[in-house]
Amino acid sequence: MAPALKIAPSLLSCDFANIQREVEAIEAAGADLLHVDVMDAHFVPNLTIGPPVVAAIKRVARRPLDCHLMMTDPQRYVAEFAKAGAGYLTIHVESHAPIAETLAAIRAAGVKPGLVLNPETPVEAAEPWLKQIDLLLVMSVWPGFGGQKFIKPVLETVRKARRLAPDLDIEIDGGINAETAKEAVAAGANVLVAGSYVFSGDYAQRIRSLR
Ligand code: DX5
Ligand code: ZN
Repeated sequence: MAPALKIAPSLLSCDFANIQREVEAIEAAGADLLHVDVMDAHFVPNLTIGPPVVAAIKRVARRPLDCHLMMTDPQRYVAEFAKAGAGYLTIHVESHAPIAETLAAIRAAGVKPGLVLNPETPVEAAEPWLKQIDLLLVMSVWPGFGGQKFIKPVLETVRKARRLAPDLDIEIDGGINAETAKEAVAAGANVLVAGSYVFSGDYAQRIRSLR
């Protein structure tokens, strides 16, 4: 059986002028993890937040920070994000990182390591490292922006991943709402990232609807 369901709201959709208030509100609404989207304007076209802002979020957060590194060279920033207080650091298999080495460096820094697959990357690309990670993130949109439409064929990737790793936390990210959450969980995902859906309504009600 898959591990327990966790909801990870993506702070990308929160009001950045009021991060403390947003973090407190989303935690009170039932968030299990806080998903933090780090984009480097190179691996993806968008540019978002870096270690100083992660450190600021950490000062007001009680839940673990699930930092999704959409970066070409995440290996160069492991120490900084660890110091900033990341709870998880996930790196893309499509990045330039030496994967085994970077996962080991993340763990050595006291942070939980994870891998991320883009929508068209087969699960086999992560297979060699499944025993080395605490979280496998399957992207259900092309990374870069919130508010995109769920890409259904990734459910097959989730199913295969669940067969390969029955006990692993398998996270899905992009286009998650009450309907797509149901399909993702049926396929084997147990960590649901949701940005625009949870932040565009009553936070507690939206999180409940995902559960
Ligand atoms: C996309 C990010 C997502 C994004 C999800 O690049 O990785 O975490 O915030 O946003 P929604 O839930 O709106 O698709
Ligand atoms: Zn993300």
